[in-house]
Amino acid sequence: MFKVLITDKLSDLGMAVFKKESEIQTEEIIGKTPEELKAIVGKYDGWVIRSGTTVTADLIEAAKNLKVIGRAGVGVDNVDLEAATKRGIIVMNTPDGNTISTSEHTIAMLMAMARKIPQAQQSLKEKKWERSKFTGCELNEKTLGVVGLGRIGTNVARKAKGLGMRIIAYDPYVDPEKNKGHEFEIVTLDDIFKRSDFITVHTPLTKETKGLISAKQIAMMKDGVRLVNCARGGIIDEIALFDALKSGKVAGAALDVFEKEPPFDNPLLTLDNVVCVPHLGAATQEAQVNVAVVVAEQIVEALKGGRVRNAVNMPSLDPKVLEELKPYLNLVEKIGSFHSQLAESFIKKIEVEYSGEVSKFDTRPLTLSLVKGILSKGMSESVNYVNALFIAKERGYEISETVSNSVADYSSLIKVTVKNEKGTHILAGTVFGKTEVRIVSLDGNNTDFTPEGNMIWMAHEDRPGIVGHLGTVLGNNHVNIAGLYVGRQAVGGKAIAMVNVDNDVPEKVMAELRGIAHIQDLKFIKF
Ligand code: NAD
Ligand code: MLT
Repeated sequence: MFKVLITDKLSDLGMAVFKKESEIQTEEIIGKTPEELKAIVGKYDGWVIRSGTTVTADLIEAAKNLKVIGRAGVGVDNVDLEAATKRGIIVMNTPDGNTISTSEHTIAMLMAMARKIPQAQQSLKEKKWERSKFTGCELNEKTLGVVGLGRIGTNVARKAKGLGMRIIAYDPYVDPEKNKGHEFEIVTLDDIFKRSDFITVHTPLTKETKGLISAKQIAMMKDGVRLVNCARGGIIDEIALFDALKSGKVAGAALDVFEKEPPFDNPLLTLDNVVCVPHLGAATQEAQVNVAVVVAEQIVEALKGGRVRNAVNMPSLDPKVLEELKPYLNLVEKIGSFHSQLAESFIKKIEVEYSGEVSKFDTRPLTLSLVKGILSKGMSESVNYVNALFIAKERGYEISETVSNSVADYSSLIKVTVKNEKGTHILAGTVFGKTEVRIVSLDGNNTDFTPEGNMIWMAHEDRPGIVGHLGTVLGNNHVNIAGLYVGRQAVGGKAIAMVNVDNDVPEKVMAELRGIAHIQDLKFIKF
């Protein structure tokens, strides 16, 4: 018998999926504090949540029997993924079930804001007849800037185009070529800010997108621009938005989501030119049924030992094979992540060569893991082992794979060449012993380092003093070096260095490092 805990309201049709399973027993326990949850989570095998429950590392630690967490929805930013992964708990979501609802909601918010419908309704309910006060603006022939062209962004862009809007879009991880047939004009982020009458954001909330729209970006916008956020609170900086709405630089904002939810003490709620609702993007009967049924089916399948669908932190594999493949999966995902952080531009081609012992495995999950690593930088949590290849195909990546059982220096070698519009990088890695993951070659230089933690990648000329100079700058800025690996092709020729550092290197320090003579390129890499 498997016990499943449900801590956010799940639609009846979702509950019905569980009820017909004799081996599954559900308990719906809603509204408990973290302390109360901690006391009970230990007895459950499965846990169903929506956005109302935050699954912290502390709760995961206490959930001794937990095998799977199912998120009825897209964002898993309320689950400590690292802690779950460390404990081997599968975290799954339902990436497609609320795309339509959230897209329609975005359009509703856009229109409500343009025509001041909530404000006008409030006024009429107060028995006022203020027709001129609520003069709005048309959407027709206005420019809508769409930031993030994933599932929801693309859907919103298509719908808004149908309303006669001119669509310009920005997504650094989508090849502009892909959109040729779609009639969206793909532009730079600065162009979005400068040219749009309305801007709508549809990215995940990541380190990169937090504060993507802040005071500096708002200053670049047209006077009277209007902003929509139906993605995640914090993508538009709330303090900067408040100031701009107050000054009139931003004429209106439509907000479904907030940095802190519920946002009861948020000053944005006091402004007349803000249209706001309590995170209702996915709040339709259809979406709630979709996500509830799918999450329940997925949890039943996973607990009964069947296939794993939409896992965001694990490949869908037979447990025995998975155990053997684990170090290689880890290696290729890190190679993928490294490549995505090195690439200067849209990735076009991915060539992967498996040689030696690793070639005895089915290499498809490895290539999936590699692609997942490559996509991890820009996509929301919904990239997983099931959909990574599909998304990569959508983005127009050309992926080729060769397998050979002979290899010169290592028992196994995985070499990955990634071509982007501006250049090519080649990485090769191996596994020492059973678990030690190493990068043994980087752009033609022999190396030997473990891809982990914070690293600085440096391409430079092989001259005396450069590494010393780098160490001095880091030292002066209190950045401690934990390890250093230098490789070169010939004396005095091109060289690379990988430097392990104990903490994040601020951009100001990176800029200072870039100023050192004979350093050609430098990047902060996080594994
Ligand atoms: P998705 O993964 O399909 O799309 C996200 C897109 O953002 C990707 O194409 C990615 O390339 C792009 N992106 C990543 N970083 C970027 C950056 N720095 N600049 C521009 N683009 C960037 O995800 P989705 O299903 O379309 O969901 C989009 C967002 O909406 C997520 O934040 C999700 O959590 C949220 N969401 C909210 C609700 C709601 O109720 N309000 C419902 C569903 C989803
Ligand atoms: C999601 O990420 O799916 C949404 O925020 C919807 C929700 O949880 O209500």
